[in-house]
Amino acid sequence: MSISLIQGSYIIAGLLFILALAGLSKHETSKRGNIFGAIGMALALVFALIAIGLGQIETIEGFGEFEMVPAAPTWTIAAIIIAMIIGAIIGILKAKKVEMTGMPELIALFHSFVGLAAVLVGWAAYYSSVAEGHFTGLHSGESFIGIFIGAVTFTGSIIAYLKLSAKIKSTPLTLPGHNILNLGALVAFIVLTVIFVNHPEGSTGLILISVVTVLALLLGLHLVASIGGGDMPVVVSMLNSYSGFAAAAAGFTLNNDLLIITGALVGSSGAYLSFMMCKAMNRSFISVIAGGFGSDGAVKGEEKDYGEHREISAADAADMLKNASSVVIAPGYGMAVAQAQGAVASLTEKLREKGINVRFGIHPVAGRLPGHMNVLLAEAKVPYDIVLEMDEIDEDLEDTEVVLVIGANDTVNPAALEDPGSPIAGMPVLEVWKAQNVIVFKRSMATGYAGVQNPLFFKENSQMLFGDAKDKVEEIIKDL
Ligand code: TAP
Repeated sequence: MSISLIQGSYIIAGLLFILALAGLSKHETSKRGNIFGAIGMALALVFALIAIGLGQIETIEGFGEFEMVPAAPTWTIAAIIIAMIIGAIIGILKAKKVEMTGMPELIALFHSFVGLAAVLVGWAAYYSSVAEGHFTGLHSGESFIGIFIGAVTFTGSIIAYLKLSAKIKSTPLTLPGHNILNLGALVAFIVLTVIFVNHPEGSTGLILISVVTVLALLLGLHLVASIGGGDMPVVVSMLNSYSGFAAAAAGFTLNNDLLIITGALVGSSGAYLSFMMCKAMNRSFISVIAGGFGSDGAVKGEEKDYGEHREISAADAADMLKNASSVVIAPGYGMAVAQAQGAVASLTEKLREKGINVRFGIHPVAGRLPGHMNVLLAEAKVPYDIVLEMDEIDEDLEDTEVVLVIGANDTVNPAALEDPGSPIAGMPVLEVWKAQNVIVFKRSMATGYAGVQNPLFFKENSQMLFGDAKDKVEEIIKDL
């Protein structure tokens, strides 16, 4: 098999990944995008394995020059295939078991594996250079940078996993001078890289590579620990981007073009997604990627007395809906927990049959992962054209008779606009309180993900419908 055939298959896989990203940007084409991605990945894996087995990995000696690397021993191929089988089994079992609500923490865990892999590739490349007594400044620099990005991604993703799965608190860690610590670590990394590129060999090289590994592990830990609960969505997509760049760095170390292309695609699309999420949440991109840089990180939300809340029964809610002509549904994480999307879709259908104008208002960070609500509603076959983004529905809220807030909390919290001291201050929210009536489906008066009280529940036009969201929606359907 020739190098050009392998290179050709890599280019096709790269193109399939681009088509996958394009497909994933819209509901209607997302399934097709996923299929393109899966085919691209299968192609990449098969041809990478063939390349290793036949010894066709090329090494760039100078610009545009290639050298054949001998075929890997059989036991190496066997080890790779066994590792792939084990990985595939773990992946299939995990993917089958995971609840939609557990996806963000699973993704964070996967990012940590990519980071760890980049660190191991960097160290392996360093040791093979030591064994061969062959160091080139540029190549050593690539491995060094790969180790740094990989280690930051590794520990950062583990902290994100612990925060998202509520194994540790999501309140931000605020060490004294935490901005200086982050900046200092970055400057130290640049200085260490320059020294390493000039002296990669001997004990100096080993000490430098060990120091940068520890430094990056600590930096990743500190960066994500410094970010508060409300900003976690951006952190997940930021770590996604870091994991892409870590893979690209490993691609440079291994001279694998496909890994470079794939890593760059993941890195840049993740960075763009983080940027868009920061814009949607009115957060500074630099501040979030630098671990809360520029903020003091303190949670200032106070326990305030907002007065009494009112309650409503499912039967009364059904009566109110029967008499309405326009209804907006604002779903949130609680709808995912209750798995209420099917019941919500049936309610929507029933109301539309009665000639009521029903639409959905989707906040960009509702739920626990980008597009969480859209995926659930698509799964329940809610027509796409009535599922609107926050900006698209905002103007119509004033003329809406009833808003059903189904398991949403932070994303409909007026404190974000009214209380400058709130940890979610400045975050745009669905201004559901502008409607004539608001019915809030939740089980208690507990706070949402950011741990902030919600004055919406105490507003004059708000009524609480306590209980599991799915049960309550089903009760309403019966009463309609
Ligand atoms: P949250 O603020 O998380 O509130 C969800 C509400 O659902 C809770 O207050 C809970 O109240 C209720 N709930 C839970 N189980 C329920 C059930 N079975 N039936 C009825 N209600 C139930 O939701 P949100 O408005 O969607 O906001 C999302 C939050 O997550 C934001 O702070 C966002 O920053 C963060 N976040 C988002 C992402 C992404 S990318 N979307 C990623 C990580 C973090 P009870 O316990 O009283 O029922």
